[in-house]
Amino acid sequence: MRKGMLICIEGIDASGKTTQAKLLVKNLNERGYEAVYTSEPTKGFFGQILRQKILYGNERVPAVVEALLFALDRLEHVEKEIKPALEKEKIVVSDRYLYSSIAYQGAAGLDPAWIEEINRWAIKPDLAIYLDVPAEVVIKRLKRKRSVMETLENQRRVRNVYLRLVKEGMLLLVDGNRPIEEIEREILEIVMKRLRK
Ligand code: ADP
Ligand code: TYD
Repeated sequence: MRKGMLICIEGIDASGKTTQAKLLVKNLNERGYEAVYTSEPTKGFFGQILRQKILYGNERVPAVVEALLFALDRLEHVEKEIKPALEKEKIVVSDRYLYSSIAYQGAAGLDPAWIEEINRWAIKPDLAIYLDVPAEVVIKRLKRKRSVMETLENQRRVRNVYLRLVKEGMLLLVDGNRPIEEIEREILEIVMKRLRK
């Protein structure tokens, strides 16, 4: 039986996930909860391959290859980090999770049901928040070297899949196109409400 709480923060590239996930962890810690930040792709074996060979390669590899590698990275993430932390009753805040695969590899043409199937052992999060920001806005924020994912067209496609997942009730939408502090407050309210239940 799991004891802690798993929260994931989703969104397109540079939508503010890392900023908000870290602020949420800080805010929870200040309120006496033991919360930890974690992210995907991880720093593990498959995460390193993803960053070094796949995301910053010259061109995209077939989406099936991406999906399988992200699923392997996630398996490692769940077994080595997420499950142990939940066992210790911690609140785990993951910067990206399963829905990133459905959105990005789904936008690349893969069947979302198959993506879910190869991720079936990935623990279902208690709360999955999606930070919604238009693709045009994030493209302006991206100053560093862009990965193969970071074109305006791809970000638009990925956002459309995320918005579909919101409609299907898989994700909870938070407007990410606002000042950082406003978003921070809303996310904290959502989480505190859930914790009081
Ligand atoms: P992600 O983890 O989704 O890639 P980050 O949190 O790293 O996003 O933020 C990407 C960039 O956008 C950073 O430079 C960050 O300071 C900036 N940023 C984050 N949230 C906002 C916001 N609400 N408004 C404007 N800029 C933001
Ligand atoms: P990263 O730099 O960590 O994300 P961000 O730019 O949001 O800070 O890069 C992760 C990239 O990998 C990002 O473009 C999304 C992509 N990705 C997938 O395509 N599928 C997945 O399952 C995950 C976890 C990430």
